[in-house]
Amino acid sequence: MDIKTIGGPFILAPLAGYTDKAFREIARGLGADTAVSEMVSAEGLARNGEKTKALLERFPGEDRFIIQLFGPSDDPVRRAMDNLLGYNPTVIDINCGCPVPKVVKTGAGSALMKNPQMIGRIIKTIKERTDIPVSVKFRLGWDSDSINFLEFADIAAEAGAEMLTLHARTRAQGYSGTADRKAFSMLSEHFKGSGILLFGSGDVFTPEDAMALINDSGLSGVMFARGAIGNPFIFRETKELIEKGCYSLPSTEEKISVALKHLRLMVSYYGENTGCREMRKHLMAYIKGIPGSSRVKNEIGQAVTLEEMTKALSTIL
Ligand SMILES: Cc1cc2nc3c(=O)[nH]c(=O)nc-3n(C[C@H](O)[C@H](O)[C@H](O)COP(=O)(O)O)c2cc1C
Repeated sequence: MDIKTIGGPFILAPLAGYTDKAFREIARGLGADTAVSEMVSAEGLARNGEKTKALLERFPGEDRFIIQLFGPSDDPVRRAMDNLLGYNPTVIDINCGCPVPKVVKTGAGSALMKNPQMIGRIIKTIKERTDIPVSVKFRLGWDSDSINFLEFADIAAEAGAEMLTLHARTRAQGYSGTADRKAFSMLSEHFKGSGILLFGSGDVFTPEDAMALINDSGLSGVMFARGAIGNPFIFRETKELIEKGCYSLPSTEEKISVALKHLRLMVSYYGENTGCREMRKHLMAYIKGIPGSSRVKNEIGQAVTLEEMTKALSTIL
């Protein structure tokens, strides 16, 4: 797959509870080349569940969309294929990294790191039905005693994966500790000349972090995850860094204005009540670090209407 298929090297990572169509729209508007859905249950998709369908809605004009599935085996993925193809994803990604017990105990998410042959079967199942590129997002291994990312990636590549995204932590680490940058270099060395797109995930909090993964570790691109929550400006900053060698940070006014735009999108997509409730966590992240923001946190936490939220945000300025 050519990187142009996904628009470029800077992607908004899948973030369950965050990367809905409103956040993807904001991130794309600020320079994200493409964005990944929240993780979607293959079983839920096979059953055409209402919750699953909602996760797969695109924002108007969303021309590229990576859909991430999770499931324990090829069986639900096979049954989900008809419905999945109806959404015409740009890339189909398989989640092999989710550490949440509810997911892992079914054999899905990072449990697949303990069952590498299964990822081969899942990918082949998809490839039997479609030419849409398949990618895999995986971890270093289950824990520090079972690091197997290269073996795992080999099985995925052999089955036909055209993109590999390594979150350079083990399942046991969850989201703590630091991502192992050496592993990114090992991955790019291992797949040198293969034509497979190699992405890195883990501790990408600044444009410099992103550029280090590309320039020093030799990766094709980067997924921004926690570093983009409340800070979608990171995409624009990274592109500015490449073009000009430096970048400017958003002003407080711009942060509030983008937060308000995000809020209005949420309300227009989900209605006032749900939109405001779901927006709280984003707003807390947008205002983090702005002088005087701590005094409005309570108000944001309690606001249930667009007017109340807008008023609370405006008092920061
Ligand atoms: C709240 C939250 C939700 C996440 N949801 C997903 C998910 O649905 N699918 C997935 O592959 N990774 C998910 N991740 C992992 C991120 O995509 C990313 O790999 C991880 O946060 C490491 O990057 P970072 O250290 O730069 O945040 C999630 C992470 C967080 C913090």
